[in-house]
Amino acid sequence: MIGIFDSGIGGLTVARALMDHLPGYDIVYFGDTARTPYGSKSSKTVIDYSMEDSEFLIQQGAKIIVMACNSASSVATECITRRFDVPIFEVITPAVEMAAHFKKEQRIGVIGTRATINSGIYERKIKEMDPDAKVYSIACPLLVPLVEEGWLKKPETRMIVKKYLYPLKVRQVTSLILGCTHYPLLKTIIQRKIGKRVNIIDSSLAISGKVKAYLDGHPDLDKVLNKSGMFRLFVSDITEQFEKTARYILKKSVRLEQGGI
Ligand code: DGL
Repeated sequence: MIGIFDSGIGGLTVARALMDHLPGYDIVYFGDTARTPYGSKSSKTVIDYSMEDSEFLIQQGAKIIVMACNSASSVATECITRRFDVPIFEVITPAVEMAAHFKKEQRIGVIGTRATINSGIYERKIKEMDPDAKVYSIACPLLVPLVEEGWLKKPETRMIVKKYLYPLKVRQVTSLILGCTHYPLLKTIIQRKIGKRVNIIDSSLAISGKVKAYLDGHPDLDKVLNKSGMFRLFVSDITEQFEKTARYILKKSVRLEQGGI
């Protein structure tokens, strides 16, 4: 089965996109809801947690691991790839490839948590792919709690998004990478505030396209992945709010199972 982990429930945006791209594939998801958020923690802590999350997925029978969490992908990819003997997918590179694909000499905006933005990973990867690109990154720490509260269409949320995006709008970015699991849920507001001509790069879509392409090119691995449509959703702490958010993201009711740490 395909294993996905995130700091919490937001990574279900990636699970949903994967279900669309690879219908029927068995998926086990782990959301570290007891220790969320990762975006405000040190790199060392995020690496330690990500190691444990991956270990749990392997124990559940995951044959590949998708790190849905941008904060984890930013700082823990190298350690996880070194430690585990299964293909590891992070969400940064596919989003950068998608952005770099549009045109040369781009002005690319990146929004994410503090951990992601402070790591400078998007900037480095974009420059590797397109040295002429200008990159403008902004940490938006208020957006995750707003999404988790379900404040997706509130005027306060629109106002905060507008304030965060203002410096990117002034710099007339041509593409904007949504570098956080939660931001696809604010895509409509973000598009409206940044302008309709800006290409919004949704990393959940970018990563699922990448996983599909990988499996197409690796039929031996694809063969061992069960396709019974099973989906298990483990979290390290079960609350009503997490259940509600999971239902909202997946658009169906799901049973949360206690697992992980
Ligand atoms: N999953 C995190 C990310 O994509 C957002 C939530 C958190 O800070 O843990 O960066």
